Amino acid sequence: MIASHLLACLFAELRHDQAQRVDKYLYHMRLSDETLQEISDRFGKDMEKGLGADTNPTASVKMLPTFVRSTPDGTEEGEFLSLDLGGTNFRVLRVKVADNGSKKVEMENQIYAIPEDLMRGSGAQLFDHIAECLASFMEQLQIKEKKLPLGFTFSFPCYQTKLDESILVNWTKGFKSSGVEGRDVVSLLRKAIRKRGDFDIDIVAVVNDTVGTMMTCGYDDHNCEVGLIVGTGSNACYMEEMKNVELVEGDEGRMCINMEWGAFGDNGCLDDFRTEFDVAVDDNSLYPGKQRYEKMISGKYLGEIVRNILINFTKRGLLFRGRISERLKTQDIFETKFLSQIESDRLALLQVRSILQHLGLESTCDDSIIVKEVCAVVARRAAQLCGAGMAAVVEKIRENRGLDFFRVTVGVDGTLYKLHPHFSAVMHETVRKLAPKCEVSFLQSEDGSGKGAALITAVACRIREAGQH
Ligand code: GLC
Repeated sequence: MIASHLLACLFAELRHDQAQRVDKYLYHMRLSDETLQEISDRFGKDMEKGLGADTNPTASVKMLPTFVRSTPDGTEEGEFLSLDLGGTNFRVLRVKVADNGSKKVEMENQIYAIPEDLMRGSGAQLFDHIAECLASFMEQLQIKEKKLPLGFTFSFPCYQTKLDESILVNWTKGFKSSGVEGRDVVSLLRKAIRKRGDFDIDIVAVVNDTVGTMMTCGYDDHNCEVGLIVGTGSNACYMEEMKNVELVEGDEGRMCINMEWGAFGDNGCLDDFRTEFDVAVDDNSLYPGKQRYEKMISGKYLGEIVRNILINFTKRGLLFRGRISERLKTQDIFETKFLSQIESDRLALLQVRSILQHLGLESTCDDSIIVKEVCAVVARRAAQLCGAGMAAVVEKIRENRGLDFFRVTVGVDGTLYKLHPHFSAVMHETVRKLAPKCEVSFLQSEDGSGKGAALITAVACRIREAGQH
């Protein structure tokens, strides 16, 4: 609050005509409560469409069934491996789950880089690399001789028909390996491991990071029925009534739905709220027209929106004395972490200047103030949009259960949510306003996706073993 007040004061000190011009171009990014309510309503309608068998093909939110039907009950135990692909890093984990009354989970993990050429090379190379990292991790822990159950957190849109089969619909977040879309990623991983022949593994479950996060938080808090990620990408999952999940047989109980909410708006229903800057980011991205909501919210794109605004303002003579540096012309050069840093800089605008300097930009004090305002507006809108989606989700669950009042916990993970100084507060406030009949708590998960995959694997193993006796 203090920071935003200061910013307002600083902004007010700008030359009046300059502030007015800046405001004119940022105006469409400032969303009113009515607009947010409208977006939330449209979101709710698209969720319904995604769940219906006949309407699913034209829904932008695909509402993918995950075949995860229950949260852990605390009786799971054993030693598991997890792979986590799809966030900032690729990780391999060993997770030990103990049923000793204290619900103890021990984890060791190793982070591996996925070089950019592998993200956009052939799928075979990508899966060979994953198998290689797994081998090196098992070697290090001296567990290569064991055939351990593995949960694969693969955080991309996938059609699942069972827990251990997952067909990639399309890549998101900068990945574009050839020959993977339309294929089962479990088979691709098994093939890469078999080809090596130096270890064996029992792949039990493929899990989206939202689902892993919900599971991890659900282990400690039984009210946790929603998972949210706001990191490189953004997405949510929640427990839906089976009778509403028309894509899967059966009416009993509930199933976790991976909403793939980043695709909201791909059918045009967000077009009246997208600005010329959003359109520019989308047009120049790896997948134009796809993941439109995600492109307005998540870490992979916010820096790009800011960069586009800065270029536009400079061309209009509003910034940097009209001179655009070569570096600023480079796609993705304005990292989303700069938004967090710039907004954490309360007084001296020193961070802003040093970041701008790093981008080859000679800035005046007025420039820094404007850049800071741009970052604030872009991040605030992202948080509000995210809140509008979340309000629709919790309202849907409340209505499903015919409740006048509904208390729920949302498990959350992701760098933007965790590191940005205001994102979480603005998002929470938006949910509170748009879903007044729900009391929503947000629980941050630590290492949620990898641990969650292990917990889902543990549940599946428990059920499998019970079936064998
Ligand atoms: C992207 C992916 C989705 C994932 C999200 C967060 O939207 O498509 O599967 O959950 O990023 O990582």
